Amino acid sequence: MQLKSIRRSMFMGISMLSLAGLAGIGCTQLRNPETATPSSTPNSTISSQPNSAANQAQATPDPITEAPSREPDVIYVPTPVPVVNEMLRLANVTADDIVYDLGSGDGRIVIAAAQQRGARGIGIDINPERIQEANQNAQTAGVSDQVEFRQQDLFQTDFSEATVVTLYLLPELNVKLRPKLLRELQPGTRIVSHAFDMGDWEPEQVVEVDGKTVYYWVVPENPPDNLL
Ligand SMILES: C[S@@+](CC[C@H](N)C(=O)[O-])C[C@H]1O[C@@H](n2cnc3c(N)ncnc32)[C@H](O)[C@@H]1O
Repeated sequence: MQLKSIRRSMFMGISMLSLAGLAGIGCTQLRNPETATPSSTPNSTISSQPNSAANQAQATPDPITEAPSREPDVIYVPTPVPVVNEMLRLANVTADDIVYDLGSGDGRIVIAAAQQRGARGIGIDINPERIQEANQNAQTAGVSDQVEFRQQDLFQTDFSEATVVTLYLLPELNVKLRPKLLRELQPGTRIVSHAFDMGDWEPEQVVEVDGKTVYYWVVPENPPDNLL
């Protein structure tokens, strides 16, 4: 019992240090999507507060005792709620959909898809703290039976069952992910991205909401070679 508490304190200390790193102290590799091109808006708040209720909720295995499998490719910045709502509207999410948010943060996109649209949702995040927070938020929202959060690297994840994919990453991550999206998703799958396009893959729609941009694509039957 005492050992567990010492272990938890050590993790919290390490976690606070690494979050300070993510916020920019001594960390030059990780980037903030709010300041990445083409976004020109000021930084939004970076969530660095471990959710105390979530910390008490024990999952199996306990994710708080696990370090991320590797460093995240982008720090956590949540999509504002009006932008989440616009992403779901643009993708026309319904109860028939399976929505994957790749880099799901606090789970807000898949939780909103479940709550507002009756969809099933899967959130993928490399950071176990985000997974724990998302599970707690799903419980609070009463949609735990419709959503699932998996601690995985989005570049290694099998998301082929998705009918809708949502993204808020970085421009270069979208481009790196593009061949996997085009090869593994069924034709007709909708993709929406907050803030960032997909390089040479022209979006079908681009919408502005509260000064933020949302891009929309549909996976084609035969993707051209230059996009793969
Ligand atoms: C900018 S946040 C977006 C959160 C959420 N999708 C939203 O829009 O509110 C990016 C998220 O991606 C996660 N992430 C970064 N690299 C990842 C990777 N390789 N695999 C899975 N998740 C990753 C981060 O931990 C962070 O929670």
